[in-house]
Amino acid sequence: MEVLAVDPQRPDPGLIARAAAVIRRGGLVAFPTETVYGLGADALDPRAVARIFAAKGRPPDNPLIVHVAGAEDAFRLATRVPPAARRLAADFWPGPLTLVLPRSDLVPPITAGGLDTVALRMPDHPVALALIRAAGCPVAAPSANLSGRPSPTTAQHVLEDMAGRVDLVVDGGPARVGVESTVIDLSREPPVLLRPGGVTLERLRAAVGGVEVDPAVWAEGVVATARAPGMKYRHYAPRAGLVLVEGPPEAAAAEAVRLVRELAAGGARVGVLAVAEDAAAFRALGPEVVVETPGSRGDLAAVATRLFDALRRLDSSGVDWIVAQGVPGTGLGLAILNRLRKAAERVVRAGP
Ligand code: TXA
Ligand code: MG
Repeated sequence: MEVLAVDPQRPDPGLIARAAAVIRRGGLVAFPTETVYGLGADALDPRAVARIFAAKGRPPDNPLIVHVAGAEDAFRLATRVPPAARRLAADFWPGPLTLVLPRSDLVPPITAGGLDTVALRMPDHPVALALIRAAGCPVAAPSANLSGRPSPTTAQHVLEDMAGRVDLVVDGGPARVGVESTVIDLSREPPVLLRPGGVTLERLRAAVGGVEVDPAVWAEGVVATARAPGMKYRHYAPRAGLVLVEGPPEAAAAEAVRLVRELAAGGARVGVLAVAEDAAAFRALGPEVVVETPGSRGDLAAVATRLFDALRRLDSSGVDWIVAQGVPGTGLGLAILNRLRKAAERVVRAGP
């Protein structure tokens, strides 16, 4: 396995050509996107796609997102493109938005997890776009982590999970958005939000009107009936048990402090995922409490960018429990809260 470092803004065409050649001959290439790192293969080659499932240990009924370098390349892969899909592509592509549409027979069933729909996205990253163009085919790419682990936002994260399991890793530095793309199902009317992400629900509704929200988006843990099959599985989970504390900021911080004390008194090593405003209160509990602060309450974009890195850091520090603070479920907060609820073993509600 090889690691190629590229300039994220102006990737060297020679390096991109080498990565594209691996995709064209049916291999696996991990590459950066604006959301998280993807694990790419030729989306139209069933054998190459089968390698993705094997490398990740991914259940075969969990479909992959097909990445393209332009809207027309995407819509060729769908049998029907409603006006709302064209509108969203025009407004948000390239960007962190995935459109689920009725699948054309050009896309092999294995890529779509056996569904009659296909998920399509044009990423907003010069390396990803150059790679797709040079490969000359749509690129199927799930997040480049082992199934169930937090998604990778750096090449280092990819190597932690996938070393020896992929042919090539393209290192283009840290991912900007940090949480995966928003997934919206446009194969039904009204459209349904399946996974909140970098494009907020509020912006989707402003663009195309009524958008429903799949109940799995708000649910805690695994949901057997989720329409995005990925939501059925334990996800984003660090190795340590995660307790999520939700509620009004002051009450939630007080409850989180109480929980950390209680767990530490029981002999557990405890880590905390805290907003910057509350970090001092947790650090005051003692040097053995490991505190990670991805960002401040007023800057949820920063929290999203560093969320998975913070979870991985807490895990590497060897803690038994992670106590995490919730965020409001609006704007980008919905994507963050969704990931935390999926990762949580237990959710505690503080306050009135
Ligand atoms: O930001 C992203 O979307 C990243 C980067 C690499 O582009 N990719 C990513 O892929 O997050 P993955 O495989 O980790 O998540 C894809 C999600 C899963 O929840 C999957 O079930 C859902 O999209 N999905 C894919 N195809 C679908 C379909 N046809 N119908 C419903 N859900 C689908
Ligand atoms: Mg994933």
